[in-house]
Amino acid sequence: MKRNLDIKSEDNFMKRFKYYKSNKPEPSLDKVVRIQYNVPIEVNNISNIIEDDSRTKLLGLRNFTDWKTYTFNKHSGLFLIANPFTSLGQRLWIRKCLEDYPRKPNKTNIDIEKHIEDWWREIHKNDELDRKLQKKLRWTTLGYHHNWDTKVYCEKNRNVFPLELAELCDVVSQYLGYIHFKAQAAIVNYYHMGSTLSAHTDHSEVNLEAPLLSFSFGQSAIFLIGGQEKSYEPSAILLNSGDILVMSKEARLCYHAVPKILQASNQPWNNYEELIQIADNDVKTKYINDETFINEINRNADNKEWSQFSSYVEKSRINVNVRQVLMENQDRLDN
Ligand code: OGA
Ligand code: MN
Repeated sequence: MKRNLDIKSEDNFMKRFKYYKSNKPEPSLDKVVRIQYNVPIEVNNISNIIEDDSRTKLLGLRNFTDWKTYTFNKHSGLFLIANPFTSLGQRLWIRKCLEDYPRKPNKTNIDIEKHIEDWWREIHKNDELDRKLQKKLRWTTLGYHHNWDTKVYCEKNRNVFPLELAELCDVVSQYLGYIHFKAQAAIVNYYHMGSTLSAHTDHSEVNLEAPLLSFSFGQSAIFLIGGQEKSYEPSAILLNSGDILVMSKEARLCYHAVPKILQASNQPWNNYEELIQIADNDVKTKYINDETFINEINRNADNKEWSQFSSYVEKSRINVNVRQVLMENQDRLDN
């Protein structure tokens, strides 16, 4: 009798996954935690009022005082920072995920099929967009490359982690009080409207105490998070463009999944009043050359320059999933 009960309860995660994945019938969103509709079920706004970081503006973020941060009673260690990006900031990061990150030496899922030096340039090489190749891109890895077969990171399979992304993660982790966090590996996931990501835990990192930072851009997603076993009934959370989800402490090793991509109810990357250029200033950054970076961010205020990126995110979701791999006192895997 007990055995049967155990087997049945193991299906709790899968049951929810299948429910939310369904197209016929479409799932009800009644039980989905949706911050923007004021349906935060068992969610607490913890807005940290701490002194602002002078880097926020440069990185496309609002001031800390405008950030809205939520915790979840049922999921200790889970944080949701509801879109702290400006419109220009969203454009900057979406563009990086499409134009820069899939470029060599970074790795993509397309590598096993053919070598493509620069995916974004390749799909726009001819007059007509190569939609087939555009659709093929499902992930890019940065820093320590995630090994999808062995799940083991190694020193030989490592490239420089993008400095501006490390800086963004530094600002977010400082804000949450994780002052020693170092971004060392990332998976950028590209989802189409029918894509899903099945239940898994992320446990390849040597350091499992460090939080995992997850940035969402473009179309929305239903995100499921449960416990360390699949029997735990998961919660469903709507993730919108600009949202940052942080899995730390107890939540770091919990099962999670993306059963459905949903059409976004608005396009925060196209908020025209907010697409003003950021002024030149003498922000002190840790890693990035601020003058080049200011030009890079400002270019995105131009709608014409940004139109190809806009077409992509109108039909896709991008998730940047950042991890620290090493222990605090390590600088390589082999020491
Ligand atoms: C991952 C992941 C979640 C998401 O890449 O490991 O869990 O929101 N992504 O896409
Ligand atoms: Mn994951």
